[in-house]
Amino acid sequence: MSRTITICFTNNKGGSGKSTTCSNVGAAMAQAGKKVLLIDGDMQLNLSLSFFPEEWVLEQAAGEKNLYHAIGKQQDLTDYIVHTPYENLDLIPSSTLMSSIEYELFTKWQREFILKKCLQKVKDSGKYDYILIDAPPTLGGWVMNILCASDRVLIPVEASPWGMFGLANMFDFLGEVRQIAENLQVLGIAVTKVDTRKNYFKQTMETLHEMEDIYLFESYIRVDSAIEWAQDSSAPVVEFKKSSRSAKEYKALAEEVMNRVSR
Ligand SMILES: Nc1ncnc2c1ncn2[C@@H]1O[C@H](COP(=O)(O)OP(=O)(O)O)[C@@H](O)[C@H]1O
Ligand SMILES: [Mg+2]
Repeated sequence: MSRTITICFTNNKGGSGKSTTCSNVGAAMAQAGKKVLLIDGDMQLNLSLSFFPEEWVLEQAAGEKNLYHAIGKQQDLTDYIVHTPYENLDLIPSSTLMSSIEYELFTKWQREFILKKCLQKVKDSGKYDYILIDAPPTLGGWVMNILCASDRVLIPVEASPWGMFGLANMFDFLGEVRQIAENLQVLGIAVTKVDTRKNYFKQTMETLHEMEDIYLFESYIRVDSAIEWAQDSSAPVVEFKKSSRSAKEYKALAEEVMNRVSR
């Protein structure tokens, strides 16, 4: 059996910190010496933009070497991997055409498992310790593919009233997917974009703590402008500004993720 663990970052709420968390947890794992492959599953290209300048990302999105084409042609993803500027850290870029991926999947045989099949050789090669997949803010056939290809799901939640709203839908959907994705386990909820001065943060944490059977990560990520400056420079904050608060918080979260996964 492959020792590679695949973790996806999913929440149907946009702006909950999926892409930021996926890129920084991945980069922190790579800094810790783990071999990591990141897969950009969203047409917004945010994960790709976390590592490469806009011109490169758009060029890649318009070309043939991206996830959309691999899925359409049902090809082994090995040929779609690019190296990021950082050691131990590779990426499969996305395409704006991902907007029509649902349509693309519709006519295919065993359509929930296309990504899983395309990823199988990469997984079996044992080249990576972790494969991290950034999901779009939807709950459809494509996210079902992402979940079916994953061993674990991490749910980033924004510490806001609307961040909490919709979690029930997410869990209903996960319940359905788990009927066909037998290996899938919920790794836990990570709270992002926290303003500790606000009482709402405490209420969010209390509500999440009360949820049975769901692990709440101890490391949460506070609001930090260094994240935006890092994204503006096409770099994850754990590389862009190692001394920043959010870089330290993301490193702690990555450690917690690795510890939980290895249990
Ligand atoms: N801890 C943070 N501090 C400040 N801004 C953040 C933080 N985390 C995310 N953001 C910003 O919030 C927005 C949404 O985050 P993103 O990771 O793209 O969410 P999602 O992928 O769930 O849509 C982005 O513009 C990002 O720069
Ligand atoms: Mg995103």
